[in-house]
Amino acid sequence: MEVFDAIHGRQTIKNIKQDALPREMIEKLLSAGAQAPNHHKVRPWRFVVLTGDGRKKLGDVMAASFFDRNPATPPEGLDKTRALPLRAPVVIVIGADKPADAKIIEIENVSSASAAAQNVLLAAHALGLGAIWRTGEWARDAKVKEFLGFTADQYIVGFIYVGYPDVLPEPYIRIGFEDRVTWVE
Ligand SMILES: Cc1cc2nc3c(=O)[nH]c(=O)nc-3n(C[C@H](O)[C@H](O)[C@H](O)COP(=O)(O)O)c2cc1C
Repeated sequence: MEVFDAIHGRQTIKNIKQDALPREMIEKLLSAGAQAPNHHKVRPWRFVVLTGDGRKKLGDVMAASFFDRNPATPPEGLDKTRALPLRAPVVIVIGADKPADAKIIEIENVSSASAAAQNVLLAAHALGLGAIWRTGEWARDAKVKEFLGFTADQYIVGFIYVGYPDVLPEPYIRIGFEDRVTWVE
């Protein structure tokens, strides 16, 4: 797929089939992520790939965290939270490393991990997959971070839910760049 077609044709796809993805396909996505630019060659992205019961483990952690904050919730009230990671067969969590020394700037690591996330989305699109970049409270949740192997002060830039598309969204054209640019000549 031509790069401009990928960039302009990609759309968030929320409705994803449960069919498992071949490992090679997931690795293609990760490899695309790892092509992102990064300053000082620190490769600051961290990928955690959840499939199968791995997603259920994350759901259990989310439900436990929700319960900690809302102890009056009846058990069935946690089902919705527990099921969140099951919305796709593969969830790729992308985090950013904390800078290891003074010359490394945290925002640059976060920017680079975000570029990796976009690469994953574009690669998914090029492979005919559906994907959505999610964050929400879970990207900042201490228990979720701990489960995923991130430290409390590490950023999770996103959860990429990906799989074969089920319902395709209506194609749309995004608002252009014109109102977001200043030309200095
Ligand atoms: C940092 C980030 C976080 C996002 N978090 C969510 C989210 O939690 N839930 C959601 O439905 N979409 C989320 N999105 C996806 C946006 O809703 C989506 O990109 C936007 O609607 C534009 O649609 P498009 O991707 O088709 O251009 C997120 C996107 C980004 C970049």
